Amino acid sequence: MIKRMNWQIFLWIISTLCIPVSLPIVTMHLYRRYRLRQLKGQLKGKVVLITGASSGIGEALAHQFFKAGCRVILSARRQKELERVRDDLLRAHATTTPAHQPVVITLDLSDVASIPAAVEKAKSIFGCIDILINNGGMSQRGSVQSTKLEVDMQIMQVNYFGQVALTKAILPLMIQRKTGHIVAVSSIQGRVAIPFRSAYSASKHALQAFCDSMRPEVAQHNVHVTVVSPGYVQTSLSINAVTGSGQKYGVMDDTTAGGYPPEYVAEQVLNGVVLQEKEIILATAGPRFAILLRSLGPDIYFWIMQKRANKMLADAQSKTSSPETSQTKTKLESDDSSKLKTN
Ligand SMILES: NC(=O)c1ccc[n+]([C@@H]2O[C@H](COP(=O)([O-])OP(=O)(O)OC[C@H]3O[C@@H](n4cnc5c(N)ncnc54)[C@H](OP(=O)(O)O)[C@@H]3O)[C@@H](O)[C@H]2O)c1
Repeated sequence: MIKRMNWQIFLWIISTLCIPVSLPIVTMHLYRRYRLRQLKGQLKGKVVLITGASSGIGEALAHQFFKAGCRVILSARRQKELERVRDDLLRAHATTTPAHQPVVITLDLSDVASIPAAVEKAKSIFGCIDILINNGGMSQRGSVQSTKLEVDMQIMQVNYFGQVALTKAILPLMIQRKTGHIVAVSSIQGRVAIPFRSAYSASKHALQAFCDSMRPEVAQHNVHVTVVSPGYVQTSLSINAVTGSGQKYGVMDDTTAGGYPPEYVAEQVLNGVVLQEKEIILATAGPRFAILLRSLGPDIYFWIMQKRANKMLADAQSKTSSPETSQTKTKLESDDSSKLKTN
């Protein structure tokens, strides 16, 4: 009898606690879905410029926005890959879409001097740019000591200055038209830095700060700013990453291979744009906790990062005595050894 009473009291406590917590969450979720369904149609005909559209997240974004009826401008360095994406878009969405041919504009983000001309070209095609998605970027693998300054500068040029230059070239048009949306694909590493990624983390932190600073400045002109911070995503990012000497890393890290599908990330970005969200964090509990810990308990965060760096170095040293062999690099600079996985 007493046992049954205890059980009933337990259930009563749980339900009184759960309902007030879960009800607002469920209501918010349902409201978000309702708003999404209502607002998605507004994307039709919008001009969207996507950088890094030749592969990975950018390619998936191109599919999402094209499918939603947008006029897409695909940009990156590799023209052939951009043309492949354009042809895929037309093939994949032939029945659902539409009148607008995707446009290809080649652009090297590290060549900031060429950016105004590329923007002029984009403007001359559709007359405006409603949504700019700053997605193009590259990653890095290497210790501070082994990374040449030129590599630090290259990463900053592509991941930060290229995006800043493109934003500055497009922003006046958005302000003049009193409408626009700027999206920056950053990373969890734009919020918390991890060892052996100093240049990459720094470039993403800079991008985050630039956007946070710009957002309240441009809001009065009805220009919205969204920063997307994904964890690992299944793309070629680690393969295309550069090592400290500037050579291609060329390895598909297990963490990257096991990350989110790019299509999922692209869908969340589209939803975030529709709902005018300021931040989109796409990560599991570990990285989310790391962001909190960095602010609330920095010493604990630094201690965990120290452990992580030590373990990576120890793993590398146990493999080989030479820390600069490629085998060592793969281990030394991989993300496998941490409990707080971020990207
Ligand atoms: N994959 C992940 O785990 C992950 C996680 C968090 C954030 N991100 C971010 O997501 C974004 C997209 O990366 P991804 O994962 O899709 O990797 P990806 O498949 O390697 O794509 C990178 C894209 O950036 C373009 N790009 C690189 N250097 C460029 C340059 N100098 N000028 C113009 N375009 C350039 C590439 O095109 P071209 O080579 O044709 O120029 C490519 O389209 C990056 O900003 C990355 O930091 C990725």
